[in-house]
Amino acid sequence: MIPTRETCLKILRENEVPEHIINHSLTVEKVALFIAREINVATNRDGSKLNYDLISAGALLHDIAKIKAMEKGENHGELGGKMVKEMGFPKVADSVKQHIRLDSYDKMEEITEVEVINYADKRVAHDIVVPMSERFLDIRHRYGKGSRIILARIEKSRKLTLIVEERIFEILPFKPDDLLKQMESID
Ligand SMILES: [Fe+2]
Repeated sequence: MIPTRETCLKILRENEVPEHIINHSLTVEKVALFIAREINVATNRDGSKLNYDLISAGALLHDIAKIKAMEKGENHGELGGKMVKEMGFPKVADSVKQHIRLDSYDKMEEITEVEVINYADKRVAHDIVVPMSERFLDIRHRYGKGSRIILARIEKSRKLTLIVEERIFEILPFKPDDLLKQMESID
């Protein structure tokens, strides 16, 4: 089962997710849905189109555990995934769990909802659409401070996200830098 947008927003409020994280999540949702629609149009895949409800729910709930995990010193993707799974939404839980790091990168497979959400999150700093490079600068500043291990992990994640970006923009008829302009043109 996939929760509706309304249910997702209610879940965020019930879990006391702060306003700025909700705003971030709403922008990630917008970016992810835009990319998914463009992929569906460009690939015209039969029966295996990206599911908009799943993308919407995963994007809205991806940071549900951000504050809770910080308090507990846990990974907010893992904790959020667990929470959403316990709510009875295993498919959505999978996107939440993998929004920081994908479990696998199979170049041969078609792009999945999980990848689209993961990538969209890397294009949104706070609630603004930015290039991936800018978002990773922000991530390095916020989480990398003084720790070589964490910085190395962030760098690995950046390289893997570049692969996802390449995969997505192999399909789309515009470049990563034109994403915002493209989104504004249909607004
Ligand atoms: Fe996150």
